[in-house]
Amino acid sequence: MNYKIVTIPGDGIGPEIVREAQKVLEKVANVYGHNFTFEKVLMGGCSIDAYGVPLTDETIEKCKSADAVLMGSIGGKVGVSKWYELPADKRPEAGLLKLRKSLGLFCNLRPAHLYPELKNACPLKESIAEKGFDVMMVRELTGGLYFGTRKTEIVDGEEVAIDTLEYHDYEIRRIAKKAFEIAGKRNKKLTSVDKANVLDSSRLWRKIFKEVSKDYPEVTLEDALVDSTAMQLVRNPAQFDVVATENMFGDILSDEMAEIAGSLGMLPSASLREDSFGLYEPSGGSAPDIAGKNIANPLATILSAAMLLRYSFNLSEEADAIENAVEKALAQGYRTGDILEEGVEGLKLLHTDEMGDKIAELIG
Ligand code: IPM
Ligand code: MN
Repeated sequence: MNYKIVTIPGDGIGPEIVREAQKVLEKVANVYGHNFTFEKVLMGGCSIDAYGVPLTDETIEKCKSADAVLMGSIGGKVGVSKWYELPADKRPEAGLLKLRKSLGLFCNLRPAHLYPELKNACPLKESIAEKGFDVMMVRELTGGLYFGTRKTEIVDGEEVAIDTLEYHDYEIRRIAKKAFEIAGKRNKKLTSVDKANVLDSSRLWRKIFKEVSKDYPEVTLEDALVDSTAMQLVRNPAQFDVVATENMFGDILSDEMAEIAGSLGMLPSASLREDSFGLYEPSGGSAPDIAGKNIANPLATILSAAMLLRYSFNLSEEADAIENAVEKALAQGYRTGDILEEGVEGLKLLHTDEMGDKIAELIG
C-alpha cells in the first residue's frame, strides 16, 4: 500500500528522534512491501526562525493532505530561548495547539506500560512495581482550559489574569464514546477522572459519561476525582485500565504516568479524530539540554510510529512488529541513558541512532 506521512521534527531532540522513527518505518515498508513517502515540514521554534510564526497555513495544509503526521517535539527553554520573548500566541507551543485544533484531533491516547525489564527504572517501591501496570490514558485534546478565552488586564489598578474552562456536551460525548470503545477492546474498565466536587464542567463531564455508559453495558464505569487519581496512580497503578479525562488533567496525569513507567522517553501518543487520520508524537518535550548530543531516547517516537501504523493505516501486524522489536531490545539489555539502571550487569548503553538501528534490525 502507498501512504503519505508528513513529519514534523520540530526543535530540541525532535529531529534526532523523528529520524530514528522514520528509519524504523522505512524498515517496516521494506519488510512488509509498503510504500511510505515522507515530507518534512517546520513547526515550533524552527518555524518561528524561518517564517516568523510557529505554524504556517501551508504547514497545516500539508498535514491535511497526508495520511498521518509523525511529530518529534517543539519548544525551547523558557527564559533562555528568544522564542519566549514573543507574545504567548506566537510561541512554539501555540503552533502545536493550533495544529491540534485545525486538524480536529480531539482524542489523545497515551498508553503507559511498565515493561518488566524497566521495573528498576520505575521510581515506585518494589512491591508496587513488581505488579506492573498497563494504563491507557484518553485525554480530551481540543477543549477546556487550553482553548477557552483568556486575557490579562488591569482591574482597579491590579493585574488580573483570566483563563476560561468550557466544555460543551458534544465535546464530552465524543471523547466518552472513544474511551468506552477503547475500554471495550481492553479489560473493560473505564475510570472517568474529573473534579466534580468543585467544577461545573466536571459535573457535566460526569453526567455525560454516565449517559454514554448505557450504550456500553460490557464496560464498567467508575468516576474518580483528579486529586485522588494522582494519588492512586503512585499507590496502585495496576488497578487502572482506561483512564479518560479532560485536557488539563490529562496533561498533568500523563507526565505522572510516564514517570512511573520508567521515563518520559518511553511514552508514545496518538492524537485522533473520527476518521483514520492522526498525529503521532512522543509525550515528552524537546529536552533542549541534551539536543544534538545523540543521547535522547527515541523509543517513545518509535512506539508512536507503531501507533501510527495501528490507528491510521490499520496495519496491526506491522505495529506489533515494532512493539515486539522494542521489547526484544530491552530484554537484550539495550538502553539509552535515561533508562539505564546503575549497577545492573549486562546492560548496553546505546546512542540515539544506535537504538534506531537496533530496533530496525530486530524487525523482519
Ligand atoms: C503535551 C505538552 C503540550 C500540552 C504543550 C507542549 C503545549 O505538554 O503534549 O503534553 O500541554 O499539551
Ligand atoms: Mn504535557
